[in-house]
Amino acid sequence: NSSYLLLAIETSCDETSVAVVRDGRNVLSNIISSQIDTHRQFGGVVPEIASRKHVESITIIVEEAIREADISLENIDAVAVTQGPGLIGALLVGVVAAKSLSLALDVPLIGTHHIAGHIYANHLIGDIVYPALALVVSGGHTELVLLEQEGKFRIIGRTRDDAVGEAYDKVARALQFPYPGGPYVDKLAQEATEEVVLPRSWLEPDSYDFSFSGLKSAVLAEINRSRMKGESPDFSALARGFQNSVIDVVTVKAMKAAKEFGVKQMLLCGGVAANKGLRERLASLCGDVGLPLLIPTNKLCTDNAAMIAAAADLKWRRGEFSTLDLKAEPILSL
Ligand code: KG4
Ligand code: ZN
Repeated sequence: NSSYLLLAIETSCDETSVAVVRDGRNVLSNIISSQIDTHRQFGGVVPEIASRKHVESITIIVEEAIREADISLENIDAVAVTQGPGLIGALLVGVVAAKSLSLALDVPLIGTHHIAGHIYANHLIGDIVYPALALVVSGGHTELVLLEQEGKFRIIGRTRDDAVGEAYDKVARALQFPYPGGPYVDKLAQEATEEVVLPRSWLEPDSYDFSFSGLKSAVLAEINRSRMKGESPDFSALARGFQNSVIDVVTVKAMKAAKEFGVKQMLLCGGVAANKGLRERLASLCGDVGLPLLIPTNKLCTDNAAMIAAAADLKWRRGEFSTLDLKAEPILSL
């Protein structure tokens, strides 16, 4: 149980991130290099460009993480990396870098699941109490995950079409915001004085699944309707309507699942967990029933390597190491 240093790498999408974490929880550095300025002009992440950018930055970001942690590379005891899911070319860069470091330093390699990372970002800000329920809301994922015990994940609900973040980004584009537009929609919704009430997609009464593509279409239809009438659409009222519909559905389903499975804690995570409206609503609903809630800081919500270190720490403590034939997996179950 002596102190150990973990270097973690995350390159599953458009952030090149490297972190140095002591004993699985003490973040010494968490460098995030975003490629978003490059991808923005294309209105989304271009996989081929993402891979090339990761190649350009990975060694520089490793050096920066080491420098900021004020350690030397030789002090690293293990290397963790996001194995999947994500963009295959992007994942490969991180996996190859991690293997090289593991080989050169002769330390264990730990392949990690991206969503386990988002969930265990919560372990960096507080103690997780089991059973816990994680509401995972990101650009690529929308899932309700039951954690009966540490490191044991059971998906009880997932999106059947768009992920929440994806829906936010598509709506943001219709509202003429740059990519990724989630934060702009959030801000506009907060400022709005009017609301265009939009449908809520509850699906079957006993289902914990989600669907957001109909809601996204409803926003687009409203915009078209206004334009057909020669009026200019009320973007802020639409942003508020969209945000309220999303928040209602995800929080009501999360609270219902929390009750049904008798969890002792709620965990919110993923990029959309940075959403102010969602954070506030979930905090208030959990407060009403006395259910403890953890939400990572905004930096730990969006893609970052410290969260990968937090998830890898579970495997370190169990001695579950990967071998050098670790494969990057674009599709990987939790
Ligand atoms: O977890 P993440 O960094 O990447 C994935 O693994 O997908 O999530 C990024 C997503 C984007 O869709 C972005 O628009 C959304 O999170 N996002 C937000 C907010 N901040 C980031 N969506 C709504 N409100 C926000 N404040
Ligand atoms: Zn993510």
